[in-house]
Amino acid sequence: MNTDYLVIGSGIAGLTFSVKMAEKFPDRKVVVVTKANEDESNTKYAQGGVAIVSNKEEDSFKKHIKDTLIAGDGLCDEDVVKMVVKEGPDRFEELLLWGANFDVNDIGEFDLGKEGGHSEYRIIHHKDITGYEIERALLTKAHQLENISILPHHFAIDLITNHQIKDHVSDGLTCFGAYVLDQLSGDIFTIKASSTLLASGGIGCVYGHTTNPVIATGDGIAMAYRAKARIKDMEFVQFHPTALYEAKGESSFLISEAVRGFGAYLRNKKGYRFMPDYDERAELASRDIVSQSIDSELKKSGESHVYLDCTHLDMEAFIKHFPNIYNECLEHHIDIKTDWIPVVPASHYLCGGIEVNKEGETTINNLFACGECSRTGLHGANRLASNSLLEALVYAHNIYKYQSKKDYKYTQVNIPDWNDEGTNIPKEHILIQHNLKELQALMRDYVGIVRSNRRLKRAIKRLDLIYEEVEDLYRESKITTSLCELRNMINVAHLIIRQSLDRKENRGGYYNIDNIKKGSL
Ligand code: FAD
Ligand code: SIN
Repeated sequence: MNTDYLVIGSGIAGLTFSVKMAEKFPDRKVVVVTKANEDESNTKYAQGGVAIVSNKEEDSFKKHIKDTLIAGDGLCDEDVVKMVVKEGPDRFEELLLWGANFDVNDIGEFDLGKEGGHSEYRIIHHKDITGYEIERALLTKAHQLENISILPHHFAIDLITNHQIKDHVSDGLTCFGAYVLDQLSGDIFTIKASSTLLASGGIGCVYGHTTNPVIATGDGIAMAYRAKARIKDMEFVQFHPTALYEAKGESSFLISEAVRGFGAYLRNKKGYRFMPDYDERAELASRDIVSQSIDSELKKSGESHVYLDCTHLDMEAFIKHFPNIYNECLEHHIDIKTDWIPVVPASHYLCGGIEVNKEGETTINNLFACGECSRTGLHGANRLASNSLLEALVYAHNIYKYQSKKDYKYTQVNIPDWNDEGTNIPKEHILIQHNLKELQALMRDYVGIVRSNRRLKRAIKRLDLIYEEVEDLYRESKITTSLCELRNMINVAHLIIRQSLDRKENRGGYYNIDNIKKGSL
């Protein structure tokens, strides 16, 4: 297959770029490959909202920039922060034009929420299902554009670069598209593209306990890494403080930070409200601080979880704002009106990823990255809540603007077909399952909220064994989605551990007991 633009992923990043490009150039073709149903993505599950400066009387760009820089703990790129915050309102306006709806108050202004690290109310939301509404609007818009083809259940296996095309000479590495698996037929084919955008989302599933859906296996980052793109800041995995705790199994349902913005308290089992002991902003300290504080409480008490107490809040208003959270808790036999919600931190977001400049260019020619898989410099060592959807909107626009100006000449290259000679259908599914569980357990136990050099080194040793076993299996097997995802998660885990060992100072979401202490726990 040939296309002008290949987009890998159908969340907010991939769809926003596709819609813009397809609208501007009706004669050019955009192909979106996405590995599950077309709406399945982290985007779909976003709850809190989008951080936008809209109420200029109370709020200002200056305040949003300051909050972002404070949350990032000195490692944000200040120019990027300013650009993203200031561009935000215009990009958000486009979402409204494409039909996305957000809650308004009695006088018709946006009903603004608050989350950790924000000094003002500035989170625009659609009840507590903001991402669902954004994904709905973007897909509706994309379906109206005839030059966008969305291919659901198509899994991008690897990028095609000079590595595959031996006789091609170019200045540096160049990307020519990707090998893609049709997950329903099992066929593997080549998509040649003038430009390729990785919009493949996050890595939550590398940890067993995550707020992310099962698609978040870090495929784009692993593909870019294997293609030799620069990957940065992987040690900054963000743990969300309040995932619903379930005694049996791994809970993944998120209790939005906006619930704390609404006034909920964190309590330990004895009922003690502990956050004021850790930070003067209490429950509304930035996410890294709240997660580290909960971790510390749990280590002190030996308990498995803490509680979120909403019982003192105006329940009518609560249910109006958070109907999904209220109902999901009821399904777990927790009535928020009277019961405290058991919560525990879970892996949620990756602040690092594929390094890009302001135009979204990676270090490989014609390869771009956008959204959670990219590392723009906006988040530094810890992302400010609700800045992720914002970042994707702004960068999708920047990449679109940059590519609009560029005349991509289609390079005639002979790309070899995928070669799976001598491989067999994998019979040992148990190997994949077992290695996945082992990987997730080692990341949880050795590479969690609080790390140490000893645990990180232990993790790398165990990971090496899993890596060898899975590479053997990969060489001798026909490709399956679960095998590729496992291989990708191993690559991502390797990057997280290696880059953790390289960081010698604790910052934001990175805390290693052997490092110089910055801040106190
Ligand atoms: P995604 O939306 O994850 O999309 C990635 C796409 O790539 C998916 O379609 C996936 O199927 C596809 N894909 C992946 N690998 C492959 C492959 N190999 N081949 C083909 N397709 C592939 N952020 C905020 O700003 N505000 C919030 O309120 C908020 N709440 C959140 C709540 C939850 C529960 C979670 C999990 C995250 C939340 N976030 C929030 C973070 C935010 O939702 C994500 O960072 C953002 O949506 C990422 O968008 P994306 O387009 O980069 O990736
Ligand atoms: C939440 O609603 O708590 C998630 C917000 C985010 O991840 O930005």
